[in-house]
Amino acid sequence: MSSQIDHLLDEDRRFAPDPAFTAQAVATAELYERAKADRLGFWGDEARELLTWSKPFTEVLDWSNPPFAKWFADGELNVAYNCLDRHVEAGNGDRVALLWEGEPGDSRRITYAELTDEVKRVANVLAGLGVGEGDRVAIYLPMIPEAVAAMLAVARVGAIHSVVFGGFSADSLRSRIDDAGAKLVITADGGYRKGKVSALKPAVDQALADRNGSGVQETVEHVLVVKRGGNDVEWTEGRDLWWHDVVPEAPADHVAQGFPAENPLFILYTSGTTGKPKGILHTSGGYATQTAFTHKNVFDLHPESDVYWCTADIGWITGHSYVVYGPLANGATQVLYEGTPDAPHPGRWWEIVEKYGVTVLYTAPTAIRSFMKIGRAVPHRFDLSSLRVLGSVGEPINPEAWVWYRSVIGADRTPVVDTWWQTETGAIMVSALPGITETKPGSAQVALPGISVDVVDEEGAHVGNGNGGLLVITEPWPSMLRGIWGDPERFVETYWEKFADKGGFYFAGDGARLDEDGDVWLLGRVDDVMNVSGHRLSTAEIESALVAHEATAEAAVVGASDETTGQAVVAFVIIKESYLAEHAPEGLANDLRLWVGEQIGPIARPRDVYIVGELPKTRSGKIMRRLLRDVAEGREVGDTTTLADTAVMSVISAQVK
Ligand code: WTA
Repeated sequence: MSSQIDHLLDEDRRFAPDPAFTAQAVATAELYERAKADRLGFWGDEARELLTWSKPFTEVLDWSNPPFAKWFADGELNVAYNCLDRHVEAGNGDRVALLWEGEPGDSRRITYAELTDEVKRVANVLAGLGVGEGDRVAIYLPMIPEAVAAMLAVARVGAIHSVVFGGFSADSLRSRIDDAGAKLVITADGGYRKGKVSALKPAVDQALADRNGSGVQETVEHVLVVKRGGNDVEWTEGRDLWWHDVVPEAPADHVAQGFPAENPLFILYTSGTTGKPKGILHTSGGYATQTAFTHKNVFDLHPESDVYWCTADIGWITGHSYVVYGPLANGATQVLYEGTPDAPHPGRWWEIVEKYGVTVLYTAPTAIRSFMKIGRAVPHRFDLSSLRVLGSVGEPINPEAWVWYRSVIGADRTPVVDTWWQTETGAIMVSALPGITETKPGSAQVALPGISVDVVDEEGAHVGNGNGGLLVITEPWPSMLRGIWGDPERFVETYWEKFADKGGFYFAGDGARLDEDGDVWLLGRVDDVMNVSGHRLSTAEIESALVAHEATAEAAVVGASDETTGQAVVAFVIIKESYLAEHAPEGLANDLRLWVGEQIGPIARPRDVYIVGELPKTRSGKIMRRLLRDVAEGREVGDTTTLADTAVMSVISAQVK
């Protein structure tokens, strides 16, 4: 990480806001003043202004039992109503909500009135299936309008969705269904990815297949299936229902009931430092407030004229907050794209920007870096002049990628906002505000109005400008996670215990540096969580998948820096002698790569699997991943004096070569 810090220290390019942009900007410098003068009053005002409450709240924050926060607790609202009906009631029913583009080139335009109608029907279907307040619904869908409708319908009836990324395996889906105790699964036959139909329903069938002996009680009563891929699917009569049979038949009247602001809205699983993904729990009023506030101010949203596009999949938090809840609460018109950036050609994204006149684009550094690799000729075949704000999220953006984004995609004109946040924070926490902040390539810069962050040392003391340390959030925020589903102890231990004596610092797990101006530069994770193409993966989860293979005796996984994906998964595996006695070792490394893909999902597939004789361990048996990272990144191996066997690293280095 030190070379990265040196590089960042050299970065002194600055981009002042364009006065013409500032003149029309939604955000104002006064937001910081207001929030500073009265943080809770500020959030209360924003909550009242941005949302429609069926019952007004009287208290903004109840922090009497930290870290269990309650925001706007005696208020009531319906989050789906806030994203839909109220825009129709305000006379904007004809405004386009979704400009959907399928990967094969088919497209649909869906207005707020149409989306409201669809969600009401789906809500009636859910109610008919006995899904109501507090029930859990798993959603395993491609990027199609029905995914948005499904999430909103679940929210509308007061149930809790758990969206599982369509790229996850049947096993991953099953553990998420079981952990949440889902009553219903909403899926599709398949969706388009890279020019082909990628099936989804078989994974649901497999996840729900006979559990005899597994000891797990089946909770799923029904599977609602959208027809998208047209691929053949198996059918379980009585359990499975086609969306196109039941949704159009359902009545289009559905009155959205208000629910308490602290009612759960969704669970979203994310990787932690242990093998078991954490079900991050978000509730309604605070989450809706902060996603709407940040979406409006960070992206300078003018809902009457902007065409906004966030490229994230709804299976990730970015898709929840900045495809579904933030934009729709604000009445935005947005692009929803089903496929991959390079299908059927490498200019597909830029073709979409031109076709719809996209004005605000929000994507990840890994995508920007892969476009850099292809070269500017590809985007420059298209008219990108509609773009006026560019956003980045998911991993540290290196200054070169930031500058390329601004100059090649943004014609040296658009503000770039690098937004730091997490599944746990629910919404953007640290970011420049376009038109207000003078931007610095590679820095996420400043906490948003109403948000308090700091960079501290291991003892929790402020490091001071010019120093590095750990990023913490020092005050509760409206869209903060409310817990880990079913595991309050893990919630306290993971995020709050490290600095417990500081009276409520949230430990984010990220390293950061404060520059001379006090701006924040993110430096990556400080724990055993990897960030591959902006996706969080746990070393422990991949290790446990590897050791579940009959050939593996032991495995250690590290995240090695990678030019395109930020980090890449690199595995070191010891094979069982008994296995080698009966099988040839050829092809085994690749088999193990594919195995991990099947166990967790293709995103977790290691870039490299090295078969080694031993792993570097301390005398107490702890694997020293730092040394393996040195090998994986082709560096001189660091200090090995604490190893039980100091010779082991030279053996490993030789085996890897
Ligand atoms: C990383 C994605 C640097 C960070 C919204 C964080 C970032 C993790 C940035 C959360 C950024 C996200 N600069 N690092 N702008 N944004 N990260 O939960 O390590 O998928 O802890 O949420 O991504 O990943 P998650």
